[in-house]
Amino acid sequence: MLGDLGNSIYYLIPEMFRVLKLHGSLYLFSSCKKLAEWLPLFNAYFRYSGMLIWYKKISHSGRYWRYNYEIILIFDKGQPKRYKKKDAVLEVPREKERYVLNQKPVQLIKEILEVATKENDIVLDPFAGSGSVGVACKEMNRRFILFEINPKYCKIIENRLNDVNKTIF
Ligand SMILES: C[S@@+](CC[C@H](N)C(=O)[O-])C[C@H]1O[C@@H](n2cnc3c(N)ncnc32)[C@H](O)[C@@H]1O
Repeated sequence: MLGDLGNSIYYLIPEMFRVLKLHGSLYLFSSCKKLAEWLPLFNAYFRYSGMLIWYKKISHSGRYWRYNYEIILIFDKGQPKRYKKKDAVLEVPREKERYVLNQKPVQLIKEILEVATKENDIVLDPFAGSGSVGVACKEMNRRFILFEINPKYCKIIENRLNDVNKTIF
């Protein structure tokens, strides 16, 4: 399960735990400022298993420290398998074509999927935005379920998913 949250986090944690299969993992994109608040909330349900760094090179504007990375927290339910060894700092540039704020690059999602999943596994992204998770899953033969509340973004997702076929054939 991959996802971006926000203020909905409090009531969503038990639901995320409920829908995640036993021996599955939750990969949660977080800002470093949210870390202290979120860790105990998730620890009440999941087993915290580590943290990845997405090194973006380009920094967000900040008063003093300019954050050129995002963190991705890993929470497990049971004992999930990992399928590949990989460095936990993932250096992936942001994509030039951007459809939504906080869009994640498809390549970044693929790096995570390579370790966390095998072919035909099911990945849920409850906050799909531009659909990067769906695109990565389709390109890597993972099944996926995306939720997106904004119809404009749903259309973008549909177009991006259709383009995956065009790239393959
Ligand atoms: C930060 S964006 C996700 C960006 C995504 N990770 C990507 O790579 O494009 C968060 C998305 O969650 C959607 N969203 C917010 N509340 C939602 C809800 N209750 N159900 C489904 N989608 C929701 C927003 O419309 C927005 O597109």
